[in-house]
Amino acid sequence: MLAFVGCVKGNPIEIGSGAQDGGTIAIANCGYSITTRLGAEAPTLAVDAFGDDATPRLVHLGFVGDPKTSMVAQWRTADEVTRAGLVRYAKGANLTAEELTETAPGIQFAYESTGGESPRMHQAHMCGLEPGTTYSYQVGAHDPVSGASSFSPVYSFRTAPDIVAHPDTEVVIGSLGDCRNGYDIWEQLTTRVKTYDPDLVVFTGDAVTIGITQYEWEAFLGRAEPLFATVPVVFAHGNHEVNAVNFFSQFAQPGDQENFGVDYGHVHLTVLNDTPAEVADLTGKTVAFLRADLEASKAATWKLAMHHQPVWSSATAHGSNLTLQQAWQPLYDQYKVDLVLNGHDHDFELSKPMVGQSTQSSVDKGTVYLVQGGAGAELYDNASQFFTQYAEKTYGASVLHVRANQLTLDAFRPDGSTIPAGFTKSK
Ligand SMILES: [Fe+2]
Repeated sequence: MLAFVGCVKGNPIEIGSGAQDGGTIAIANCGYSITTRLGAEAPTLAVDAFGDDATPRLVHLGFVGDPKTSMVAQWRTADEVTRAGLVRYAKGANLTAEELTETAPGIQFAYESTGGESPRMHQAHMCGLEPGTTYSYQVGAHDPVSGASSFSPVYSFRTAPDIVAHPDTEVVIGSLGDCRNGYDIWEQLTTRVKTYDPDLVVFTGDAVTIGITQYEWEAFLGRAEPLFATVPVVFAHGNHEVNAVNFFSQFAQPGDQENFGVDYGHVHLTVLNDTPAEVADLTGKTVAFLRADLEASKAATWKLAMHHQPVWSSATAHGSNLTLQQAWQPLYDQYKVDLVLNGHDHDFELSKPMVGQSTQSSVDKGTVYLVQGGAGAELYDNASQFFTQYAEKTYGASVLHVRANQLTLDAFRPDGSTIPAGFTKSK
């Protein structure tokens, strides 16, 4: 039970006093539902309180449905703001607030966190969008009683392209991981990733030191807001997220938010949780999901997988995860996954192309594994083993450029200098 007492128009109210065992709400305009986890309230459209400060904070984008036609805007307010708010949006870049002629209703819920906090999250789901199109939007809320309103700045985003209609379209994907407790570097890197004008950002886990502490999530989302308010993020759960309700509450994602597939441009990206609440899932349910997802997407031009812990790493802190080598790599081999994105070891390492325990002579013949846990967390020592193409003890991030016939990966340090290990594969 939450016990926060807020104040609306001078009248004390008790808010968030509902059960914290989660719940489901249908998102009518999108044809799907949102389910919150144990530790969070059931989501609702609107209750009765505007609250003293409805200023939207930590605005960030994600998606639950098809990224060609949908987008989810998410934001925080002061805990007592139970009026759900809305998103105002319209097709076009850099529009004024007055030009945002479409609206979609918001939902809201609070969740329990450390320090007696009950952060209140809001989501507004935009559906029926046009592919490959730029939209402007802002989020916020009206108080119909007082007439007060609080809205965010106007931001822009781009939906995923329709590659059937436009097969030559290039998609740009920024990739980062492991920023916990290192948010100056994190801000530097997210600022630099934004200069590449990415369509999508993927995060390989460990945003925070421990997932139940809200203040680090505030830094993670706040320092990256210029990027995350304009580019949707897909987040792979890391061990430091500890399956906390904070993680599940703040990131709307497809499926169960842990294991899901995304089609974006010519890429099929499989996202997996390699530290699930039930350890047995690693070699059980998750393997079954991975097999089914890769089987269903085997016609995809480019197959990428993303999860936190490295299948192949020579770093001395963690190194290769042998369970994943045994349980998951055979499926990467079988379905010829092109590239696997991992973090957990706080350095940079790109593997040679691998099949089983053997290095291959060409990227056409095996899967390449990227370890890049250098988005701000204290660095670990790198090393070099038989599978290492290049390793360096450095902070950094990567950008993927994906076209129908070519996938490239460029990695860089926070100062923008190039990490001298690239990945280019043509088909
Ligand atoms: Fe980790």
